[in-house]
Amino acid sequence: MSPVSASTAYPSPTVAVASALPKRKVASSVLIVPVVGGSEDDAAAKVVANPYLDAEAVGEIEVALEALGAKGGAEQLSRVVAPSLPVDSVLAVGLGKDRDTWPADTIRRAAGVAARSLSGVETVITTMSDIDLEATVEGLMMGSYRFTAFRSDKTAPKDTGVRKITALTPDTRAATKEIAARAAAIATAVATARDLVNTPPSHLFPAEFAKRAKALGESAGLEVEVLDDKVLAKEGYGGIIGVGKGSSRPPRLVRLVHRGGNNQARTRGADSGGGKTVALVGKGITFDTGGISIKPAANMHHMTSDMGGAAAVIATVVLAAQQKLPIDVIATVPMAENMPSATAQRPGDVLTQYGGITVEVLNTDAEGRLILADAIVRACQDGPDYLIETSTLTGAQTVALGSRTPGVMGSDEFRDRVAEISQSVGENGWAMPLPEELKDDLKSTVADLANVSGSRFAGMLVAGTYLREFVADGVQWAHIDIAAPAYNTGGPWGYTPKGGTGVPTRTMFAVLEDIAASG
Ligand code: BES
Ligand code: MN
Ligand code: ZN
Repeated sequence: MSPVSASTAYPSPTVAVASALPKRKVASSVLIVPVVGGSEDDAAAKVVANPYLDAEAVGEIEVALEALGAKGGAEQLSRVVAPSLPVDSVLAVGLGKDRDTWPADTIRRAAGVAARSLSGVETVITTMSDIDLEATVEGLMMGSYRFTAFRSDKTAPKDTGVRKITALTPDTRAATKEIAARAAAIATAVATARDLVNTPPSHLFPAEFAKRAKALGESAGLEVEVLDDKVLAKEGYGGIIGVGKGSSRPPRLVRLVHRGGNNQARTRGADSGGGKTVALVGKGITFDTGGISIKPAANMHHMTSDMGGAAAVIATVVLAAQQKLPIDVIATVPMAENMPSATAQRPGDVLTQYGGITVEVLNTDAEGRLILADAIVRACQDGPDYLIETSTLTGAQTVALGSRTPGVMGSDEFRDRVAEISQSVGENGWAMPLPEELKDDLKSTVADLANVSGSRFAGMLVAGTYLREFVADGVQWAHIDIAAPAYNTGGPWGYTPKGGTGVPTRTMFAVLEDIAASG
C-alpha cells in the first residue's frame, strides 16, 4: 500500500458554473434538484422554481416524486429519472416548507446529504446553486469527501466519488466564478484537515505530521520553520518536551507564516484590517493514550483525532495564503505523541513552560494544555493583534455542549465575535465564560500552577483558565474547544462524514476574512 501523500488523499472535485443545462447527454451524471413540500399538508413535493428546467422536465420530476410519495421534507432524498434531461438521473433533495429565503446551512446540509448519497457518479449538475451558490458548492464538496487512502483494492472497490460539479447560476461573470472558486477552496481546506485527522497514528506521528505541514505550507508559498526535539529542549519548551518524552517518536513545533499584511503601515488598533497580525495555535497530539495517567481501553482509538486543532490551523493558514488575505497569519503548531513508557513524565513531575512558568503535572492526560502553553507563549512573541487557539482539549466540552457544538472562550469581545462568526458558517461555536474563581483551582503546592484542578466541576473552563495564564497582555484571544466536534464518532449527517470533520477550519477562516475586512 502506498503511503498517503501530503495533498488530499482523495482529490476534490472540480467546480464550474454554467447558465444552462448541457445540450448533450452527460455520461455518469446526476442532476441535484431542491424540492419543497407542497402548499397543502401531505401534498407531493414541488421542484423549487428555477430558470434552467422547462415545464416538461419539471412535470417529469414532479410526477415521479408523487408516485414515490415524496413530500419534500428537509434532507429527504428521492432518485428519479427524467428522460427529457441530459443526465442519467435526477436526485431530488427536500428543503422542507417552501420559503422565500433559506439559511445558508440548510442549503449546505441538503447539498451535503445529496452528495453523500452518491457513489460511482462522476458529474453532478445542480439547480440548488440558484438559491445559494456558495452554500451549494461547499455542501456538495464537503458531502463528496471520501477517505480511501488505506483501502486496498482487494478489500474494497475504490469509490470513484464525484469528479466534477457544475453549478447552474443566472450569470457566469467573473464575480460569480470567484464565489464558486472561494467556496471550493474552503471545502478543499476542510478536506485537508479531515485527511490529516483520518490518517491513523501509525502513519501520522510528530515528525511525519511536521513533514506534511511543511509540504502543504511550502506549496502555498508560506515561510516554514520546523523545530525538532533538540532545539525544543535547548530553547526551553518544557511542556512539549515533557509530553513528548514518553514516545519513541519525538515532538516537533511547526511554524507557518503567511505575510499578507503591509507591515510598514501596521498599527495596532487601526480600523482597517490591512496590516493586522493573527496568531493561530492548534493542538497536535498525534495520539493521546493519557500517558502514565493512562486512559481506559474503550474508545481510546478516538484519540487519533487529538491533532484535530493542529489540522484545522494548518488548513486555515494555507487557505489564507491561497486566498491572499491582506493580513499576516502565523500558525504555531506543537506536535507530540502522549505515551506511557520508562521515559515518560510522571504525575507529580514539575516542568517549566516556555517563558518560565513552572507547572506541577498532576495528571499526564491533561497534556494538551502543556504543549499549547508553550506554543501560545511563542506565538505571542510575534506581537499578534489576535490569537485563535483550537484544541480537542477536554471531555468536559462534550459533557457541557454535546458532540456538535464547540466551546468558545477567551477575551470577551473577541470570543463573542468568533462564536457569532462560527454560528454564521454553520460550525456553531458557543461562547462560554472563564469565571475568575476557577484560577484558584489550579494552585500547586510546589510550582506556579498545577495542570489540573482538584475538582470535577467545569473542566472545559478550567482548561481555558490554564491557557489564559500564557496569553500576553493586550492580545485579543479565543480558545475553541473542539474535543467532540472535530471527530464524528456517530453516524454521518448533513455534509459531515464519520471521522474527521474539519471543524473549526471554516470558523477560523471566516474570522480571518472578517479581520482582513474590518480590523
Ligand atoms: N484529548 C483529551 C480530550 C478529549 C476527550 C478529546 C475525549 C476528545 C474526546 C485530553 O487530552 C484529555 O485527556 N483531557 C482530560 C483532562 C483531564 C485529565 C483534566 C479529560 O478531558 O478527561
Ligand atoms: Mn489527554
Ligand atoms: Zn489530549
